[in-house]
Amino acid sequence: MSIHSLTDAEQPALLERLGQDHARIAQMISRLGAATDQLEFSASEDADALWDEIANAMDFLKHYADRVHHPLEDRLFDALLHKGLTPTERHLVFRNLGQHQEIMTLTESMLAQIHLARTNSVVDPAAFGDQVAEYLALQRRHMTFEETHMFPLLMARLDNSDWNKLHQDLGKHFGAPAS
Ligand SMILES: [Fe+2]
Repeated sequence: MSIHSLTDAEQPALLERLGQDHARIAQMISRLGAATDQLEFSASEDADALWDEIANAMDFLKHYADRVHHPLEDRLFDALLHKGLTPTERHLVFRNLGQHQEIMTLTESMLAQIHLARTNSVVDPAAFGDQVAEYLALQRRHMTFEETHMFPLLMARLDNSDWNKLHQDLGKHFGAPAS
């Protein structure tokens, strides 16, 4: 660990933003899960509103989590690769990158199912429910993995000047956190 590494009390703005993103993503996946649970037991006239709710949550996950939040994290974790990581730490970075790819693939597959359901094709609610359960578990496991391993690694390996540079390089490009 660098002697210039930061303490938790000095959390850089970008890292704080990742934490806010996680809170928002957790909220969205809870909404997705709740709407999907109701879908299985709802009358068909209520289903349209539930599919709308599911589609809105998934749109957020595709457009914000997959396209803004994960790429921002990838850029930050990529910066770690130049900070003399151990082989085990390097493995964490690549494992995390793989999880982002896995989530993105599953997001696309779920959006395809949702599109089918909303264009009057038959989608088995139980099978869709299983797919959502798998997706929620993956998203939650992934965020726990980052909060347990990746965010502490950023704190341990990046010093103030690294963070200042990253804020300059990434702050404008990645805009404000999700609201
Ligand atoms: Fe994340």
